[in-house]
Formats: sequence, C-alpha cells, structure tokens
Amino acid sequence: MTNVSLPTLSRRAFLAGSAATATGALLAPIWPNAADAAPLRDFKLRCSPGSAQLSPGPSVATKVWSYNGTVPGSEIRVKQGERLRVVVENELEQNTTVHWHGIRLPNAMDGVPNVTQEPIAPGGNFVYEFDAVDAGTFWYHPHERSSEQVGRGLYGPLIVEEREPIRVDRDVTWVLDDWRLGPSGEIAAGFGDLRDAVHGGRIGNRITINGRPPEDFKVRTGERIRLRLLNTANARIFGLDFAEHRPSIIALDGQPVTPHQPDGLLVLGPGMRIDLVLDMTEAPGSRVTIRDRFFEDYAYDLIDLAYADTPLRDKIPDWPIALPANPLSEPDLTKAERHELIFNGGMMGGAVMQEMGASMIAAPTMRRMMQSGSIWFINGVAASGLAMKPFLTLERDKSHVLAMTNATGWEHPMHLHGYSFRVISRNGKPTQHQEWQDTVLMMPRERVEIALVADNPGDWMFHCHILEHQASGMVGVIRVA
Ligand code: C2O
Ligand code: CU
Repeated sequence: MTNVSLPTLSRRAFLAGSAATATGALLAPIWPNAADAAPLRDFKLRCSPGSAQLSPGPSVATKVWSYNGTVPGSEIRVKQGERLRVVVENELEQNTTVHWHGIRLPNAMDGVPNVTQEPIAPGGNFVYEFDAVDAGTFWYHPHERSSEQVGRGLYGPLIVEEREPIRVDRDVTWVLDDWRLGPSGEIAAGFGDLRDAVHGGRIGNRITINGRPPEDFKVRTGERIRLRLLNTANARIFGLDFAEHRPSIIALDGQPVTPHQPDGLLVLGPGMRIDLVLDMTEAPGSRVTIRDRFFEDYAYDLIDLAYADTPLRDKIPDWPIALPANPLSEPDLTKAERHELIFNGGMMGGAVMQEMGASMIAAPTMRRMMQSGSIWFINGVAASGLAMKPFLTLERDKSHVLAMTNATGWEHPMHLHGYSFRVISRNGKPTQHQEWQDTVLMMPRERVEIALVADNPGDWMFHCHILEHQASGMVGVIRVA
C-alpha cells in the first residue's frame, strides 16, 4: 500500500479551471507566508460507493464507501514544507466533508461541517488547501456522520515525509481497522445503536490491515523497517505484542518522541498513530506472530512476520533513528492557564462519578440517557446537533493546561483538532517522554493533563474518537481567540 501514486492534476489545469478555492486568510504566523509559494501538490479524492475484499477466501466482496475506489483511500504522500491542494468530490447520496486528522492547518480547512465549512452536498465538491508544516503519519476521514462514513470505509493515510528521512530498508504503513460484518460479509446495519454508544462503541468482528485480511508479512533477517501504524477503527483499541521483537517508538500521532521501547503493549486507541523502527532480529526461516492483547480475554493473532531463508545482513544496522523535531510552540507551564474538564456518562457512569467525587454534575439515569440518546458528557453537557457553541475559550497565543478527568468506566481516546499537545501527566505523575499527541487515550478513572500554546485561532473540535461516543454527546468546540 506504500508508494501508491494518486491521480494528480496539474497546477495549470487548476488555474485554468473553475474549481473554487477556499484559501482563507492565512494570517497566523505558524503558516508560511503566502508569498513564499511552497511547491504545490495536487490530489483528488472521490467519495463513492465501491467494494472491497475484506474477508478471506474467494470473492466475498463487501460493499463499502471509499475514496478513489479503494479501502483505505489512496495514500497521500508529500514532503514537509509542500502545500497540498485536494479536490474532494462527493458521489455519495449524503453530505460529507474531509478532516485531516492531526494536521495543523488553518481552521477553514479543517473539514468540520457547519463549524468550519458547509457540508459537501451529493454531487458537490470542495477544495482543501494547506501547508504540510509538520512531518509525520497522519490520516484523513469524513467528519459528517463519522460513525457510519468511517465505519463504511472512508479513510486514508496522509504521510508527510521529513526533509531528510531516517535511513531504513523499507517504509511501511499498516492501516488497522475492524469491521462489523453480517453473515454474508456485508457491513452490518445498526450505525447509531445506543447499546454500542453506552458501552465501548461499535466493535467489529473482522480485522483488516490496509483493507485486507492480514496475510503473512515477508521480512528478512537484519532488515530495518519503519512501520507506521494507524488505527482507523470506529471503536477498537489495539494493544500489539511484537513477541521477541523490540520495536522502538520514534513518533506518536506523527510527532517525534525520544526513541524508546514500549513498556508492555503498543497501545493505539482509535485515531492514534505510532511510528516504529522495527529491526528483524530473528533467524532466517522463522515465523513470529504479532498478537493484539489489549483485551486479554479476547486476544487474537493479528499477523505473522515470515522470515525469508536468506538474511539481508548479519548485523542490526547502527543508523540513527531519532527524528528531527517539528516546529511546535513550547507551552510555558509556569504561566499556563488551567482548565478542568470532566467526562462522565455511559454504562455504570453514575457509580464511577460518585466514587470519584464528581458531585458537581448530576448523573443522568441510564433510562434518560437511552431515551434522549445523550449518553456522554463533557463538563455536564452532551453536545448534539449542528453548529455547536464553544464550551471553552482559550486566550490566543497563551499557554494552557487542560486537566482532564475520565469519571467513567470506559476508555476514551480524546482528540483535539488543529493542535498537537504535550501529555504532561497521568494520574498526577509526570509522563516520562512528555509526548506530543493529538489523541490521548484515557483509561477508566484516569486523570490526564495536556498542555499547548493556543497559537492556531479558530473553533476546534474536541471529542472522543470512539465515533459512537462522539455521536452520543462526547464532543464539543474549543475556541481559540
Ligand atoms: Cu479524526 Cu474529529 O477526528
Ligand atoms: Cu469515548
């Protein structure tokens, strides 16, 4: 799936054509000056019904929705500093938009219907244009009826290469997804099911890597692979066990981190990415199974690394693996303004809230939640409907700490648009790597503090990336002004 090239359109065709561009005023200093004219890269994404081979065995094709006819959608790959222009055409029978998950860009390009743009109507199109200021592993997906649209296959990787990438033998992307399929391999109905919403979301029964049932992944002894992992599932959290291998984590959510080995599983909540350097340290001819053990009772074999009989080299390469930092503003914790965010709701939510002393918010009864469809709450509000009002305003260009409490019995991968933030503490303890993320997985009852400089103005979505939680209230707008 790497190195798939996209149908690109020439710049001249664009200038000559009538496609309306939507270049907002790029005033924020974090974006390159328009006069600096970064090299422009043109792409096209067509959203349409299609089919995919999600199940093993001969010719069980599943009807999906896809970008450019494939699941995942075409890989968009550019170099840091380049400018992307992506024409999105909507051939679905419902509205859509495209959100560039993890990319720091001007608000008008963020792809949130009724907040940053009008939705793209059936038959309509929209032109997104923005600079790739950060290198890293990102992805794109709709932000309209996300549970159904992402769940039916609308997602794709967006790779921004470093100006000088680290040396590896292969750069490989694994887009992990799970699907809920019915008996004849069709996508099961029931998007929006409230039983999914009150629990852990729409967990599937078919795992795919790059839109296919996982098959042996062929490797060679001594080989060094940069493995970009992306979790595009609606709800499933992956916890990968690489067995004898000792992968080094070099980036989280696209942002470089001090290279380190995971203590335990490699955990990816929905929306999250991890870049690994993986050295093939086993003997020629061996076979090693990578397992997903996040839910220990439901552990399963994900994929086998199948070693060729001849080694590539007999020593692990000693090439450096640290990535150059991206141009992020460093929050000043001594001056940061602090904001408390508490999440509650869901099955068993009342009990957890009581236990955590979160008495400031009345716990709604399960019955009321099921009747109203409002199941998850941020600071007591379950957002619904279009054009949301901000629940929090951050003063522009100041440092801020969001102190978040997960007063629920469930995991929540919390995602903020338009920013990467530092995860500074968990349960009161400073994190070892102070990692930059755009989606932070919070365990039940966990407290997490994140910090950022509010240098990107606009109305930004903040939500749980379990898409059924998002759809049932766990979403809001943070305004930077
Ligand atoms: Cu990946 Cu608001 O989304
Ligand atoms: Cu959630």
